[in-house]
Amino acid sequence: MRILVVGSGGREHAIAWAFSKSPRTTKLYCAKGNAGIAEIAETVDIGPEDILALAEFAQEKKIDLTFVGPENSLAAGIVDEFQSRGLRIVGAGKDAARLEASKSFAKEFMSRHSIPTAAFAVADSAEEAVSFLESGRFGGESAPVVVKADGLAAGKGVVVCRSRSEAVEAVRSLTEGEIVSADAARTIVLEECLVGKEISVILFADGKNFALMPPARDHKRIGEGDTGPNTGGMGVVSDPSLLSADQRDMIIEEIIRPTIEGSSEEGFPFSGILFVGLMMTESGPKVLEYNVRFGDPETQAILVNLETDLVDISEAMIEGSLDRQIISWKEGSAACVILAAENYPAQPRTGDRIEGLDEAGKHECVEIFHAGTAHDDHKEVVTSGGRVLAVTATASNLSNALHRAYKAVNELSWPGMQYRSDIGK
Ligand code: AMP
Ligand code: GLY
Repeated sequence: MRILVVGSGGREHAIAWAFSKSPRTTKLYCAKGNAGIAEIAETVDIGPEDILALAEFAQEKKIDLTFVGPENSLAAGIVDEFQSRGLRIVGAGKDAARLEASKSFAKEFMSRHSIPTAAFAVADSAEEAVSFLESGRFGGESAPVVVKADGLAAGKGVVVCRSRSEAVEAVRSLTEGEIVSADAARTIVLEECLVGKEISVILFADGKNFALMPPARDHKRIGEGDTGPNTGGMGVVSDPSLLSADQRDMIIEEIIRPTIEGSSEEGFPFSGILFVGLMMTESGPKVLEYNVRFGDPETQAILVNLETDLVDISEAMIEGSLDRQIISWKEGSAACVILAAENYPAQPRTGDRIEGLDEAGKHECVEIFHAGTAHDDHKEVVTSGGRVLAVTATASNLSNALHRAYKAVNELSWPGMQYRSDIGK
């Protein structure tokens, strides 16, 4: 199998790594990849949204299977384009990608299918959003409320506000393009603020069947103790015990099955990877968001425990035969600690040489997945993005996995490197 992975982050490094271990892979490409991916795949200089160039590349190189990492590629319609050319590809089609690309579409979809989620309102302008807030629909001045840009914003379009005046300010800064592009914030979604523990449930889907991966917990805020702004994710733990059997059943019956069936009823049967971000509230699990792709860094902590060949699972997703595909996972836990550049998530500083990669990579049960890395003119690995490395470890239990990950983290450094030392605590 000649395989193409689309994307260039830590998630795509983990996906490419899983494909690189398959005996069925004869050639692996990644567009665009990064310095770590370049060690296991041939990197190709085509961006994720340049879907015509990607399709032409796949035809020219006789690619048998393409696997898409990032949402912007899916929202731009890469799956529809590849399928129209008879190319085999794993991922959500453009219609299904609206579950992530438009938060108002996702909320209205959940309403139509009675899927539990936070109460919400959709506003088409800043004025309308402010008048919803002032109407008291989300409580008085002291009520917390969540303000979201409707469109894709790399995890930065959500502001959790402690009061109405904070929410009014968030509406202003989102719609004026201070946090995300003004385009992403043309429509604003206001939500009741949910309280509970968050959990990420990611599944393989083939349009009618689905298979859950082990659950994971992301740590979204930049600062220790969950403080500071939201990021793309600063670390993850994954362990089956994050959900009880009852919770898992409830999530399947109340949320996942209605989502897959609802997508089918509405004419976009969901195929590919579905990520459901959940808040475990006192009144049960509620959906915070859908993503139509693997999470980053959830993927790093999940795929390290996948035993089944990802090529086989990918074919089952394309062929609609997931119900006949056995998927097995190593028993145990995984932890992933993100090392980020100075000043992430605002304006990360780049171009710093990374020390200690060889030493860290030798640690037992540790994988160093690269995110924002590149080679400089001297072929040294340097930082090239906000999230730089995803140091991932497995062990028979979570505290050992965390211990292993942090031991490897201690080997790594560059000027201004930042990470959270409280992942999994
Ligand atoms: P989203 O991208 O919509 O998942 O939002 C990013 C993060 O903001 C989530 O992972 C939560 O930590 C937080 N968040 C989003 N919606 C809510 C909500 N309704 N109540 C509380 N926190 C939320
Ligand atoms: N880690 C959250 C996400 O991938 O959206």
